[in-house]
Amino acid sequence: MRKKKLTPVILIICMLTMIFTACTSTPKVKLPAQKEVTDKTLKSVFDGHGMKIGTCISGNVINNKKMADLVAEQYNSLTMENAMKPDYILNQEKSIASGELTVEFNSEARSVLAWAKEHNFAMRGHTLIWYSQTPDWIFRDGFDKNGVYVSREEMLTRMEALISGVFEELKTLGYLDLFYAYDVINEAVMEDGSIRENNWTKIIGDDYLWYAFYYADKYAPETVDLYYNDYNEQYKAESLVELAETLKDNDGRYLIDGIGLQAHLFTADDLPNYLNAVDILAETGLKLELTEVDIGLGKYESPLSPTDENLKEQGRYCYELIKGLFERKDAGSINMDAVTFWGFSDGISWRREYSPQLYDSDLDPKYALYGALQIREHAGYDK
Ligand code: GLA
Repeated sequence: MRKKKLTPVILIICMLTMIFTACTSTPKVKLPAQKEVTDKTLKSVFDGHGMKIGTCISGNVINNKKMADLVAEQYNSLTMENAMKPDYILNQEKSIASGELTVEFNSEARSVLAWAKEHNFAMRGHTLIWYSQTPDWIFRDGFDKNGVYVSREEMLTRMEALISGVFEELKTLGYLDLFYAYDVINEAVMEDGSIRENNWTKIIGDDYLWYAFYYADKYAPETVDLYYNDYNEQYKAESLVELAETLKDNDGRYLIDGIGLQAHLFTADDLPNYLNAVDILAETGLKLELTEVDIGLGKYESPLSPTDENLKEQGRYCYELIKGLFERKDAGSINMDAVTFWGFSDGISWRREYSPQLYDSDLDPKYALYGALQIREHAGYDK
């Protein structure tokens, strides 16, 4: 089964491919500028189907005027790429001093939040509980990296402090009402349906998932939808449905509001199969969002270079993906209120070796952008 994290061997293959591509590639075909093609923006097109359109963002994006202006013009939802992950929002010194796990946003998170508010963006929170990018000291006695692991009871207390602390911090800073969705848990289910082992399962047990939603439901305002978010969703849709069924309170009420599909796709991926997974997840009746969309050229083990032909294939893939979502949303068969692309342009994407985004490294439009805008004649089709 394909894994999306890069192993050293794959990394070396990717680097060699990039060097080979740089030495042999032909000059890029420049597509007509977006304004020459249409008056529409991504946000006007998605708004026409009752959806927000988002991108992930970092401090670097808002500090680059050209990029920041384009983001503000095209998108209306933002997710922090890193700055709101557990690694960045927990203060060890203050936790030691107070004896309680203490949340404190750093300057990057604060400046992106200020920018988002100034430009009227809605926000998705990412992420409260995860096995990765989470400091090990939060699991240890005295919040000390050399301490022993704490008990289940103590870890549940810390989880509650983390979750309540995030919502309190957002309220204190004046940004809570920007948020319409929050990833409570990221990436807990393996492809075989088992729960991924990590410090949370080791100390609390598999029911850490239930507790995370219980606390999130307790502290998040009603206006914030609570999401479970995962990748390779097309291979584990049934397991995600089973998990969602366990996330209910004693009265049978869902603690979870939605399932986030990361949608880290490749042009070699079977699109009907992907949309079939969307349909399976929709049967839960929960909200769905595509939360981290990128469409890499080729496949995981073998990236393709950004030739005109490969970029056209990506454009068609993006066109058909978004068309499939719009058709389902318009027919009322999915309850999807947002789609978020992960990385604004190829140059700053975490998977830049696959050229997976809507704008290229020069911030010029790609066929994929016209695919997302549903402008078929510029999306890579030969008429
Ligand atoms: C996962 C996470 C994201 C991010 C990407 C890599 O998809 O959910 O937060 O870390 O990996 O950018």
